[in-house]
Amino acid sequence: MRQPLIAGNWKMNKTATEGQALARAIREGLQTQTVEVVLCPPFTAIPAVHAVLQGSSIRLGAQNVHWEDAGAFTGEISPVMLKEWCQYVIIGHSERRQYFHEDDEMIRRKVLAALRHGLIPILCVGETLAQREAGETGTVVATQTRRALEGLSPEQAAGLVIAYEPVWAIGTGRAATGADAEEVIQRWVRGTLEELFGPEVARRVRVLYGGSVTPENIAEFVCRPTIDGALVGGASLKAETFLGIIHETARAKA
Ligand code: 13P
Repeated sequence: MRQPLIAGNWKMNKTATEGQALARAIREGLQTQTVEVVLCPPFTAIPAVHAVLQGSSIRLGAQNVHWEDAGAFTGEISPVMLKEWCQYVIIGHSERRQYFHEDDEMIRRKVLAALRHGLIPILCVGETLAQREAGETGTVVATQTRRALEGLSPEQAAGLVIAYEPVWAIGTGRAATGADAEEVIQRWVRGTLEELFGPEVARRVRVLYGGSVTPENIAEFVCRPTIDGALVGGASLKAETFLGIIHETARAKA
């Protein structure tokens, strides 16, 4: 059984003070233990949010990580630094691929670095609108998944979280349909996992949908057995909408 997971990617939003208030409101409003909840604040808010979450079941994640443990990499944050605070780290988000030119090889090294230090990667994959319109969704998602995970052992792979985030659905208010997300996840994400690591790993990895998720549309995704939850952007910035998504997920998966 895979535990449902709802992760909030705050992106470049919330000061430490604002993040603390948001995390406190989420902690106080949380009414389920069946859904695992992960908050991914910007680096500068991580210690403050960590303090608010002490003693709760809510987990912390970072939004990026470097592949080396230490050294002359100005502006970067290493997995050794993160593991004092976080259990999870988002790797390969499309905004990092697009604006910061992260490629599959960098993403592969980041996944390995995270695992080396006991951080759980939330690996993001997804096609652009042009790729979708060219009929390339399947090959893009399969290739991104394969290249990020090459060299992992089946045991390492089984602990991963993968988020399928079609780029055209991110921040646009235009979510994928549940049927579309289900098809891509089952056939191209889990299918690639099965090719690489076998059916047991393909069944054990948690796979999320991301892209314009709201309390109103979350059930459409999580009612499908292959979709274990969501990676939420905009709607994770308000306690009310984020809690709505969590509670709808608990209901749908019950
Ligand atoms: P939105 O929920 O704002 O579309 O963002 C999705 C996302 O990119 C989460 O990582």
